[in-house]
Amino acid sequence: MEIMTAKNAPLLDAIAGKTPSRTPVWFMRQAGRSLPEYRQVREGIPMLDSCFMPELLAEITLQPVRRHDVDAAILFSDIVVPLKAAGLDIDIVPGKGPVLADPIRTAADVANLPILDHEVTEVQEGIKIINEELTDQQTLIGFAGAPFTLASYLIEGGPSKNHEKTKAMMHGEPELWHALMQRLTPTIIHWLRGQINAGIEAMQLFDSWAGYLTEKDYREFVLPYSTEILESVKDIPRIHFGVGTGEILAAMGSAGSEVMGVDWRVPLDVAAERIRRENGAKVLQGNLDPAILFAGTKALTKEIQRIKDEANRAIAVGDATGHIFNLGHGVMPNTAPDAITEAVSIIHS
Ligand code: CP3
Repeated sequence: MEIMTAKNAPLLDAIAGKTPSRTPVWFMRQAGRSLPEYRQVREGIPMLDSCFMPELLAEITLQPVRRHDVDAAILFSDIVVPLKAAGLDIDIVPGKGPVLADPIRTAADVANLPILDHEVTEVQEGIKIINEELTDQQTLIGFAGAPFTLASYLIEGGPSKNHEKTKAMMHGEPELWHALMQRLTPTIIHWLRGQINAGIEAMQLFDSWAGYLTEKDYREFVLPYSTEILESVKDIPRIHFGVGTGEILAAMGSAGSEVMGVDWRVPLDVAAERIRRENGAKVLQGNLDPAILFAGTKALTKEIQRIKDEANRAIAVGDATGHIFNLGHGVMPNTAPDAITEAVSIIHS
């Protein structure tokens, strides 16, 4: 007889290489503007304020779990919350993203970047409230932004199309770049350990913009720090994700996570082969194009089946050990909530 994990949760079973009772699914940005109940509770409350309100962050985290029957909750927070908690003057501008009053560009800026060294008790309290409502089959996933993606916001001062100032520091002042990475890494580790202390059961490292790098630059300027972070949380299952990372999947895989998130551009069986060649077989997560949630039932069913087939093929040939269904990137704000519920039901059937 197969030994079940203590909780028998489909997502944790898939990560452990067991056959889950159903295909586990959650969606990046499943909590947020696509849900009317989210827009209602967030009314008049700035994004970053909401991340420090335990009852509210718990409510928002739980909304998509109640509505869509997904197998995991993703903590409602943001990649810049630990920096805000450390005392950095950073805000999230609606329709834009994280914006920094004074971008980090000089040695003095880096030396003065605050490091998180206390527990963020509001978030820990929120995690406890979330866990009271989740069943044993539902998994709470915590997260952090990876140091490269965070550094891009800090150096550019906000969202960037080309990440040119970030790459300029990386190549023009490599010592400064490494100093910045070394200052961000302890904050990220402390932030994740705090979430683990409070009760998250798995984590995802979001290196959303790593796909803008060459593989060589990724290995030299980013990989050592993401490896250190993942190593520090190896007591829980780890997911590693970025967008447009087809060329660097093997390198990202070597940072040490059990699960590799794949965006929609690369078929899962192709991604699995790239990851396995350098790292051995891992669990795959992904990779429905978020735009397909606008395409109607027929197209949705067809794409979901294609992705499941590709994952099954990868598992059958030994290139992967499991599959967690997800999108290739986050839910778009104007997505119909019913399309998300429908996708979950198709994935589970
Ligand atoms: O449901 C979930 O996925 C959990 C919540 C979550 C948020 N941000 C909430 C949020 C997560 C996991 C993040 C991570 C995050 N934040 C990433 C990595 C994931 C990714 O999408 O690649 C990045 C790059 C950020 C930075 C950021 N924060 C952006 C680009 C934006 C969007 C700005 C906008 O208004 O279009 C934010 C704000 C943000 N974070 C919102 C939410 C729900 C929207 C704020 C609002 O509702 O007003």
